[in-house]
Amino acid sequence: MPLEPLALTLALVHFGVPLAYYWYAKTVWLPKPWNLKLDEAYKPKVTIILPTYNEARIIEERLNNLYEQDYPKELLSIVVVDSASTDGTLELVEKWVMEHKDIECKILREKCRRGMVPAINYALKTNEFSGDIIVFTDADALWPTTALKNIVKYFADERVGVVTASVTYRKCGKPTTENVYRSYYNRLRVAESKKHSTPIHNGPLIAFRKDLLYKMGLLPEYTGNDDSTPASVAAFMGYRAIQIDEVVVEEYIRKKQFWRKVRRSQHLIIHFLKTKKYVKSKNLYKYSKDLEIIWRIEWFLHIVNPWLLAASFTLFLLSCMTSLSPFSFGVLSMGTLLLGSKAYRTWILQQLCLVIAAIKNLKSIEIAWSK
Ligand code: GDD
Ligand code: MN
Repeated sequence: MPLEPLALTLALVHFGVPLAYYWYAKTVWLPKPWNLKLDEAYKPKVTIILPTYNEARIIEERLNNLYEQDYPKELLSIVVVDSASTDGTLELVEKWVMEHKDIECKILREKCRRGMVPAINYALKTNEFSGDIIVFTDADALWPTTALKNIVKYFADERVGVVTASVTYRKCGKPTTENVYRSYYNRLRVAESKKHSTPIHNGPLIAFRKDLLYKMGLLPEYTGNDDSTPASVAAFMGYRAIQIDEVVVEEYIRKKQFWRKVRRSQHLIIHFLKTKKYVKSKNLYKYSKDLEIIWRIEWFLHIVNPWLLAASFTLFLLSCMTSLSPFSFGVLSMGTLLLGSKAYRTWILQQLCLVIAAIKNLKSIEIAWSK
């Protein structure tokens, strides 16, 4: 049975497509100028929405970090939307609000927990926010003090609908494997953004034009993310949805990192499956061809490509076991040895996450996840 040629072809496609795409994006798109009208003097009103569920351990530090933003306090408001936390999060937020009267901070309470996206939608639905720009963030994020002002200046250009920051991970100050993954992905996301838009955004800091959120009918609730899906919908509505490298925010690494990555992968898979409808409905929106190319490649990388690796691995293993093929044995040994390289190991882990996530999605799509 000619298993090996097939296994080899699948492996070449699996590694070749992303490598070629990354190389192209990095050398052709990334060096491009933004070609946007940035304006440091543009200072719209900003509302930051912070959803919380059982974040007592870090909520004060998070609020202090937002308070320290180098942005006029009279133009800034914070909305904490909590879904019945049981660890005293809200008491801490209330105490913090009492102690910081010079910044507007509203607390919204949901009676029961339905998940982060429904909680944010509840906040958007039931309230009139003063901000022209709405920013979502997470409790386990930390921004540099210049984050907000550097994000906001991109909105001076009318074509920009969504801006997200680049992200690194924080764990005892040491760069982690996760950071290798992040710098590779950060570069790719910024490159895609320079070309037009990236379909993958970052929850630790993502800013939307307020009107746009209402125009799209709030956040789609078919997925658990508040970043990639609404940002892509905005891009398909004709706006630029970009990740910038000028602002880098930090995110804590929490326990059970692997399963958190699986859950995020679950959200990304749903995201790509559901936003397909925008690519098909060409007449509904006038979006750019560049966006379509980027979206299609990322769709392939998230939905199809991990399975090519799984199939290739299975075929090589079969050929090893059935015909004791030295070639298959050689390929598998090399694949195992390469796990010594961080970048390669991180890539393989990511593929594994996507495969497990696709399978887990058959059971539940994790709109409200365990904390
Ligand atoms: N109000 C409310 N209700 N907030 C919630 C709920 C809920 O049911 N569940 C989680 N949150 C809050 C958390 O307290 C935190 O501030 C934020 O939502 C993100 O939740 P994490 O538990 O930290 O999850 P994550 O870091 O894996 O989520 C990330 O990935 C998502 C995409 O899959 C974040 O970056 C999200 O913003 C992103 O959409
Ligand atoms: Mn988080």
